[in-house]
Amino acid sequence: MRKLVGLACLLWASAVVAAPADAVKTRIDGLRELGAAFKAIRDGLAGDEPQTILIQQSARQVRNAASQMSGWFPAGSGAESGAKTSAKAEIWTQPARFKADMDSFVAAAARFQKVAAGGDGAAMRAAMADLGGTCKGCHDSFRVPRTS
Ligand code: HEC
Repeated sequence: MRKLVGLACLLWASAVVAAPADAVKTRIDGLRELGAAFKAIRDGLAGDEPQTILIQQSARQVRNAASQMSGWFPAGSGAESGAKTSAKAEIWTQPARFKADMDSFVAAAARFQKVAAGGDGAAMRAAMADLGGTCKGCHDSFRVPRTS
């Protein structure tokens, strides 16, 4: 029994050690999906006629990402995790500011989905600009700018 407990502790400890790098992967996978969904919205609104089905489906994906995002930044998942990440340390040193940016995005994602359900092209374009502004707002403060 004691051996089993020891093994359990060991497994638990290694899971904790592995966690930050896994968290970075989960985050980046999620952000890539979010990026693809946002691009699909832009594409869906690029022509004269909005591609409503594509846009509504992508709006749902953005909404899903928004509902998961608060779990994507656990403590220890910054550069100190050793994983390749562009997440700035300010995410964890200025949590209130970071949360405010995340809340703006979550609200804009919900608004976009509502507008997308209405199917009006001009309204969707305006809501997409607002949504995109919340991505940029957070990236400007909390993502290391790309060098390439
Ligand atoms: C609350 C902050 C925040 C919001 C809101 C946000 N992002 Fe990001 N995003 C980040 C951070 C931080 C990174 C860097 C993550 C990393 O490298 O670990 C990032 C990285 C990304 C990446 C790059 C992933 C990769 O390949 O490395 C994409 C794409 C992306 N975001 C798209 C979006 C889009 C599209 C939106 C809006 C619809 C958005 N993000 C909203 C914080 C945010």
